[in-house]
Amino acid sequence: MKFFIDTANIDEIKEAHELGILAGVTTNPSLVAKENVDFHTRIREIAALVPGSVSAEVIALDAEGMIQEGLELAKIADNITIKVPMTNEGLKAVHAFSERGIQTNVTLIFSVPQALLAARAGATYISPFIGRLDDIGQDGLALVSDITEIFTKHALSTQIIAASVRHPIHVNEAAKRGAHIATVPLKVIKQLTKHPLTDQGIERFLADWGK
Ligand code: E4P
Repeated sequence: MKFFIDTANIDEIKEAHELGILAGVTTNPSLVAKENVDFHTRIREIAALVPGSVSAEVIALDAEGMIQEGLELAKIADNITIKVPMTNEGLKAVHAFSERGIQTNVTLIFSVPQALLAARAGATYISPFIGRLDDIGQDGLALVSDITEIFTKHALSTQIIAASVRHPIHVNEAAKRGAHIATVPLKVIKQLTKHPLTDQGIERFLADWGK
């Protein structure tokens, strides 16, 4: 499983990138709004910094509007992935992008049929939102298992991004259940690197070395 970072904050992206683990970045309108910057300028900065896929989301709700916005975003850099919401209009747009060879990430996936339809429309990635399902008392990780099983059974090449990741267990389990990618906030990336026995071990080695 690869790691993407889920943020539009440049400092956070730099910090994660320096660890050498980043394969891409996902943003969404809420994350970009927090930054108070010009959207296209920020996407350009991120795409120049990280060589992997950089998801930039369209705002329009109709397919034609999504396609127009997406084509403009795709001009920013070769590594831009157009993030499209999982709606009927979104599927039409994904199909149009796929015919033009433009990568897409279908977001706000909450069920297996949505995932299957997005894959059939030609999505490069789909993003099941684990945390938001957990928030309403449904099992987000079970959705990841179901999608991976079905995509494998039907030889679908669309990659599964475990999204809305809230804590390290989401990451462990998404990897075990076969997600290709987890898009993770910096806070969780930092939690993943830590183990108290690692810290204790370093302290003990240094103490022994000092003797
Ligand atoms: C994924 O691409 C989304 O940006 C993100 O994971 C949403 O996470 P949230 O539910 O914590 O907002």
